[in-house]
Amino acid sequence: MNDRATVPTLENSAFFMPFSMNRQFKKAPRLIARAEGMHYYTPEGRKLIDGTSGLWCVNAGHCREKIVKAVQKQVAELDFAPAFQMGHPLAFEFADRIAALAPGDLKRVFFTNSGSESVDTALKLALAYHRARGEGHRMRLIGRERGYHGVNFGGTAVGGVVGNRKIFGALVTGVDHIRHTHDLEKNAFSRGQPKHGAELADDLERLCALHDASTIAAVIVEPVACSGGVLVPPVGYLERLRAICDKHGILLIFDEVITAWGRLGKPFGAQHFGVLPDLIATAKGITNGTVPMGAVFMRERIYQAFMTGPENAIEMPHGYTYSSHPLACAAGLATMQVYEEEGLLTRAAELWPYWEEQAHALKGLPNVIDIRNIGLIAAIELAPRAGAPGMRGLDAHTKAFEKGAYIRVAGDIIALAPPLIIRKEEIDQLFEIVRGVLKTTN
Ligand SMILES: Cc1ncc(COP(=O)(O)O)c(C=O)c1O
Repeated sequence: MNDRATVPTLENSAFFMPFSMNRQFKKAPRLIARAEGMHYYTPEGRKLIDGTSGLWCVNAGHCREKIVKAVQKQVAELDFAPAFQMGHPLAFEFADRIAALAPGDLKRVFFTNSGSESVDTALKLALAYHRARGEGHRMRLIGRERGYHGVNFGGTAVGGVVGNRKIFGALVTGVDHIRHTHDLEKNAFSRGQPKHGAELADDLERLCALHDASTIAAVIVEPVACSGGVLVPPVGYLERLRAICDKHGILLIFDEVITAWGRLGKPFGAQHFGVLPDLIATAKGITNGTVPMGAVFMRERIYQAFMTGPENAIEMPHGYTYSSHPLACAAGLATMQVYEEEGLLTRAAELWPYWEEQAHALKGLPNVIDIRNIGLIAAIELAPRAGAPGMRGLDAHTKAFEKGAYIRVAGDIIALAPPLIIRKEEIDQLFEIVRGVLKTTN
């Protein structure tokens, strides 16, 4: 017998919630029962504006009819198909559909089921690529402080959010990190990319000198580090990182699990910044969050490095039972159709100036030490309470829920990234609620 009561209640439920304060939540739950368009609804029918697209994934808004219908039809027609040595037509169609949107020659696609899996897949592709070309000595992987790359072992190791790493032992060996780019002294209240900090990319040169560049396989960064607190890259920073990678034969991986699918006003963040990585990890918005899916995009020369040797050999001994799952492909194809019909992959660029104005209008409210924005993302950084970091952010989150908005916080940083269908009146509503929250959060 365990010590759960015989009659399960929410408070003693078996559900071990991910990334949650289980005991606190179960005493005072915040439940969502339904969703439509820009809104969530609680079981009592209270309406909440969705300020963070679920978990940065519902870019076209909730329960979109086309996507719902496509998934319903697919589940009745082909519920599952093995992807190892077998295939189903939608997988090929969907890969070609999204490859057409990808930047440069990143036109080859490996399917996964999540951002974490995309990250680990990209890291493994990088290692295997070097080995395939006779540079198997490139075994090191470089991440960045405050980076978030999901929760699998590779992603946790290259990730740089201390709280997500420290209890999991030594993780993966051969990993190091460059410095993060957050500098409030120089860049507070920046609009778009901050002016100062391109030289922080040179930290990669330090690691090249320390480990010898010939041992480094890849560097992985989020173009905008979102989960770690919305850290927008300084002007020139990503370009410099690209140049250093080129100089030393190191692959550059962009983790675009959040920045892909229109968040910055282009299909991919790489297109917004004009910097071409070697691999891109995506997930989330690829199916509008409806069915779990991820995809890794790679440049042609990476794909071709695997297409050597005998044709009766498996080129990449990697993949998931649910890689290119039929429901995910159906959801993804319908999602791309909605994105295209409604111009959602570029809509953030149109809304950006208005969004930026409304976000920065919160300057001067209690405890606000920074506001930053890019595309349809904004962060409001609050001063931490003495001796209780994160508590002010948590209060803001729960107060927003009471006042009619769902928002995410990373510690004391409020992160906003609504569905790309948001209208200006809804932007006003969202910031009005956040204003009310900030006024009453001590
Ligand atoms: C940049 C980035 N990489 C990876 C992940 C992990 O994705 P998932 O939770 O789908 O595994 C996330 C999730 O927020 C993310 O923001």
